[in-house]
Amino acid sequence: MDIDRRAFLASVGGLAMVEALDPEAKAEALEHYMMEKLDEDAAGLVIGGEAQVAAAAPDATIRRGAGNLFGPRGPADNRQMPALAPMSNTPTLLEFFEKRFAPANHVLQSATRALKTGMSEEIVLACLLHDVVLNLVKVDHGWWGAQMLEPYVPERTSWAIRYHQALRFYPDPANGYEYPELYTRIFGKDYEPQPHIKAAYDYARNHKWYLDARMVTVNDLYAFDPNAKVSIEPFIDIIGRHFKQPKEGLGNDGSPTAHMWRTMMFPDNPL
Ligand SMILES: [Fe+2]
Ligand SMILES: [Fe+2]
Repeated sequence: MDIDRRAFLASVGGLAMVEALDPEAKAEALEHYMMEKLDEDAAGLVIGGEAQVAAAAPDATIRRGAGNLFGPRGPADNRQMPALAPMSNTPTLLEFFEKRFAPANHVLQSATRALKTGMSEEIVLACLLHDVVLNLVKVDHGWWGAQMLEPYVPERTSWAIRYHQALRFYPDPANGYEYPELYTRIFGKDYEPQPHIKAAYDYARNHKWYLDARMVTVNDLYAFDPNAKVSIEPFIDIIGRHFKQPKEGLGNDGSPTAHMWRTMMFPDNPL
């Protein structure tokens, strides 16, 4: 996927806005831009609008941490959210993909590549789910995502999801991961991750499951192809084997993270 540097800068409010961000926030902004652009291309949507907001209210801060279900997309003068399909009384993961995560191109492309390159089913599942929490919350998405999924997936799947966020910033050529050239091009050579990211990397680098999280980043890198045709179909059996679908439905099962799924079911509920 080509990144139009000017379009990217406009999407976050221009060069001055980008320069005001700390490096971690810049990297997050880039990844989210790429993901939204991909979904936009697939769905024919218009994204952006932050430039218009910045022009209208130059002192305003644009909060980026809220998930896609809560952050309006579209130009500043047309920021209503599309209505969401109502969910059944016993929602499955597949129903979330269909009604809340769609089009989900980024994670589907990532998982498709993982399948093609012969990853274990636990890692294919990690790739499929590694960024779905961005629908709920964006900031610290590795930790939030792992926590939300932990009651339902194998331990090493959620572990890999938790640490992919930090590992993105550290090259490991021996295992097929180069530092993203785009990060260097857009954010400069001297990027230093925040201390908690560095600490998470140091911890994960010496963990017995390091390669699991590393493989999520390896498959993540190539997951931005606007022409790829992807579907959830090839993953249905893997989900069936490894995702503990609660019979009451996600959100109704009383797990420690059921409320996170409920929040995505009913993002318009007050308080
Ligand atoms: Fe991610
Ligand atoms: Fe990703």
